[in-house]
Amino acid sequence: MKITVVGAGGNVGATVALSIAQRDYAKEVVMVDIERKEGDKVFYPSKGRALDQWESSPVHGFDTRLRGAVDYAETAGSDVCVITAGVPRRPGMSRDDLLGINAGIVKSVTEELVKHSPNTILVIVSNPLDVMSYVAYAASGFDSSRVMGMAGILDTARYRAFLADELDISPKDIQALLMGGHGDTMVPLPRYTTVSGIPVTQLIDEQKLDAIVERTKKGGGEIVGLMGTSAWYAPGAAAAQMVEAILLDQNRIFPCAARLSGQYGIDDLFLGVPVKLGKGGIKEIIEVDLNEKEMDLLKDSAKAVRQTMDEFHELMNKQS
Ligand code: NAI
Ligand code: 2OP
Repeated sequence: MKITVVGAGGNVGATVALSIAQRDYAKEVVMVDIERKEGDKVFYPSKGRALDQWESSPVHGFDTRLRGAVDYAETAGSDVCVITAGVPRRPGMSRDDLLGINAGIVKSVTEELVKHSPNTILVIVSNPLDVMSYVAYAASGFDSSRVMGMAGILDTARYRAFLADELDISPKDIQALLMGGHGDTMVPLPRYTTVSGIPVTQLIDEQKLDAIVERTKKGGGEIVGLMGTSAWYAPGAAAAQMVEAILLDQNRIFPCAARLSGQYGIDDLFLGVPVKLGKGGIKEIIEVDLNEKEMDLLKDSAKAVRQTMDEFHELMNKQS
């Protein structure tokens, strides 16, 4: 099995690659990034990261070969490609600037990947996640079962970690579902949250649960506030879990950004929903029962994603 991670000279991409290698089921992980020029020096971040990680293989005890690359020819025949390439928002940069720059990067990266691996499956991580997933879907020309975004596993993991702290229990025993876009409008679902089968609402009072839901929605911002940049350990592990579910045909049920075509009354939009993930990518989009309040929250979230999609289309029209 061959996996490519693009943007792997950066934090999330490098973590995805190492998380995959540590599970030791894949033959190789190709870590692609651009060269970085500083004065008369040229650096190759993904080659450096790959070498450093490969040198950890005797200690960690894995055989998965990690290889840095700049040329997409080296990605040929990848079974799964993860895209984490992009720029974070910098001072003086508008949301539109970020949207436009990352859309350009994700589009060109997708085109290169697809050229060399026409049968691959794409897992998108770059932000704004739901829109970047759409950009990759459009640029690839793939069936929507082969293009998906990573956010729900991360957001649910944050929610589960906060609950584990509050309840003083193992996070492993917490099962949870969260839907919607990857942003402040995401929809954690306490009604679908259990601790070893026990509804979480029986174990925690409403006020505390509401506070955890709110903290989850702002989980990305909490890390940015602490570090001055966004998270990578949990996002990297989450993307690696999607890759593993696909390549080992695990039929795992995860919240992922998937292109909806009528499910939940939403059409032609990438949004976080529970999916069955295994060989070939998304095998099924699961439609769970939502009450009126939950459905309203999901619709609000879809509206927010649709608005960013509209901004993206406007930008593209301006540029053409
Ligand atoms: P980073 O800045 O550490 O890494 C990004 C990498 O992309 C850099 O090494 C850069 O050289 C590379 N890159 C830029 N243009 C490229 C191109 N044309 N081809 C190949 N590589 C290119 O950023 P970080 O922290 O790794 O985040 C990456 C992306 O993931 C960001 O857009 C971030 O917002 C997003 N993210 C998404 C999450 C999610 O839940 N979906 C969670 C965390 C981050
Ligand atoms: C996160 O949720 C910023 O999307 C990134 O950490």
